[in-house]
Amino acid sequence: MLAMTYRGPYRVRNVHKSDPQIEHPGDAIVRVMRSCICGSDLHLYHGMVPDTRIGQTFGHEFIGVIEAVGDGVQHRKVGDRVLVPFNIFCGSCYFCQRELYSNCHNTNPEATAVGGIYGYSHTTGGYDGGQAELVRVPMADVDPTLIPDDLDPDDAVLLTDALPTGYQAAEMGDIAEGDTVVVFGAGPVGIFAAKSAWLMGAGRVIVVDEVEYRLDFVRRYAQCEVVNFREVEDMALHIKKMTDWLGADVCIDAVGCDASGSFVQTLTGRALKLQAGAATALHWAINSVRKGGNVSIVGVYGPTFNAVPIGNALNKGLTLRMNQASVKRHLPRLIEHIRAGRLNPKEIITHRVPLEEVADAYHIFSSKLDNCIKTVLIPPGMRQPRPAAAAPTQLLH
Ligand SMILES: NC(=O)c1ccc[n+]([C@@H]2O[C@H](COP(=O)([O-])OP(=O)(O)OC[C@H]3O[C@@H](n4cnc5c(N)ncnc54)[C@H](O)[C@@H]3O)[C@@H](O)[C@H]2O)c1
Ligand SMILES: [Zn+2]
Ligand SMILES: [Zn+2]
Repeated sequence: MLAMTYRGPYRVRNVHKSDPQIEHPGDAIVRVMRSCICGSDLHLYHGMVPDTRIGQTFGHEFIGVIEAVGDGVQHRKVGDRVLVPFNIFCGSCYFCQRELYSNCHNTNPEATAVGGIYGYSHTTGGYDGGQAELVRVPMADVDPTLIPDDLDPDDAVLLTDALPTGYQAAEMGDIAEGDTVVVFGAGPVGIFAAKSAWLMGAGRVIVVDEVEYRLDFVRRYAQCEVVNFREVEDMALHIKKMTDWLGADVCIDAVGCDASGSFVQTLTGRALKLQAGAATALHWAINSVRKGGNVSIVGVYGPTFNAVPIGNALNKGLTLRMNQASVKRHLPRLIEHIRAGRLNPKEIITHRVPLEEVADAYHIFSSKLDNCIKTVLIPPGMRQPRPAAAAPTQLLH
């Protein structure tokens, strides 16, 4: 099969790999209909995540059709169209019983923190991902979710990660009616966090980024205020000025370890790797929230330490909540929101790219070129032939 593989920082390419096989009676093999590139893939692509191995196939956001199932699979069958949450989880361990699916105890032998994740580094189990024609899906009875007939596949693929993560970011902010919410990061996750904040009762939503086209998009899509941090000298002071000098009630970090905006953080976190990435947005979140406020972190940081102002968090009496999203927990409610028209996730898709052009797709998404917000990769066989000279790929569904 055709599969994207990692060759080292800033280098990915397609190779022909042998097809994945059923390795365990609970496995399924899924033929991928489409997959997305996520900001988390960029951390891998930039060489920020330890133990990212050459030859690994990325891709933790995918939907597809079940092509084979192991002997032990009871609730899924060949031909089912499924969306596959990015978390690999067993559904029955101590953590899964508490709906902490992202912290499953049985799917990642390498860590005591996060559970298994498709297409990530070996710190999350080393499973191959869905930026390929086929993917092995363990725990096929608990993880893949049937795609309802009335759900657009483009909405379905965004339910595997970006939308539930933005939603959980807002949820962990514990937003009270009328709260002012500041979201750092206007990528897909931050955009959905801003949109979700309104659903949870926010009275004001402000999104911070440096990329103008993304700020323009989120201003329209989520009807929020925006701040370009390149135009601001002191972020915490700026947010205080905007909020009667108290600070925001809730701050959300939807940026993670690839943040820009601070010379020292960028030097120590991204260039010298003396810490697990640049914690600039988290730093700003802690300093911009009011005393007694909430900071919600979904931006990803690596397993070692980061330079964050924990003393400020303590002295301000902040509540910090964070996690990888537990996707499956949010699906019923999010599907309701989509059906009711309150959320239109597919509107953030800007690029539909043949899987064969994966290297260009990563470059465009990483460098924020061509007004890129979210890229969907379409494997061969899942699209109609491209009409001559037409840019977007025509889809079968
Ligand atoms: N916790 C989870 O379950 C989970 C799931 C998906 C993604 N993530 C993480 O969420 C983050 C965002 O993902 P995405 O797909 O939206 O990524 P993205 O790369 O598309 O967006 C990140 C945005 O942050 C902006 N940015 C950089 N530095 C900033 C700063 N100091 N302040 C404000 N904005 C800044 C960038 O310009 C970019 O627009 C990533 O860290 C990703 O790994 C976490
Ligand atoms: Zn993701
Ligand atoms: Zn579990």
